Amino acid sequence: MNWDIFLAPYSQVVEELKVKLKGMRQQFEYESDQSPIEFVTGRVKPKSSIIEKTRRKAITPEEVENELQDIAGVRVVCQFVDDIYSVVKMLRNRNDFDIFEEKDYISRKKDSGYRSYHVIIRYPVETIHGEKIVLAEIQIRTLAMNFWATNEHSLNYKYAGQIPAEIKARLQSAAEAAFQLDEEMSKIKNEIQEAQKIFTVKKSREEQ
Ligand code: GTP
Ligand code: MG
Repeated sequence: MNWDIFLAPYSQVVEELKVKLKGMRQQFEYESDQSPIEFVTGRVKPKSSIIEKTRRKAITPEEVENELQDIAGVRVVCQFVDDIYSVVKMLRNRNDFDIFEEKDYISRKKDSGYRSYHVIIRYPVETIHGEKIVLAEIQIRTLAMNFWATNEHSLNYKYAGQIPAEIKARLQSAAEAAFQLDEEMSKIKNEIQEAQKIFTVKKSREEQ
């Protein structure tokens, strides 16, 4: 199989979603000095990871398109937990794609301690052969959840998925601490946003 040909629509989707979600952020900044979106990233799953996952999950080449939901993946990082739900609501209201599935790993965190909200979408992308519907995964999480997941991911990579029990336990308590941090920040959200508003005004005055 030719990987470049197979992956081309997926990288098109990642680029389009990044533009659209970054556009939302920009629009929020123009209209309200604050945005539920802090930053957006995206990636196409590397070939080696696709192959590894199909082996691990016994997925045949014919099943890849429907069974691997995260070949195209974008991540939306927010300051506060309730921003996540604002973003999800906006995604549900869009007309440029359909929601295929939602996975709420916030109210029900994973055993590892992982927390995030995943929205799997069916995205129509134009190719040189016409329209193609591809699945894409949008992960929405707070800065604290992202900090935890990034570090846990590095450790998983280092230990090839077999993180020693002691470190696993530390990660679980770090996840709990990240959860507490999100809770505490939510309680002073208004204070923080007032402060950030003042900062934005000051900055734009300086830029004039
Ligand atoms: P995989 O976990 O990739 O096998 O996919 P899945 O089909 O089981 O879906 P799931 O919703 O469990 O995970 C999708 C994606 O969420 C992963 O590819 C990761 O990016 C992220 N994720 C899920 N669980 C964890 C976790 O325990 N730690 C970290 N760091 N990321 C996770
Ligand atoms: Mg999984």
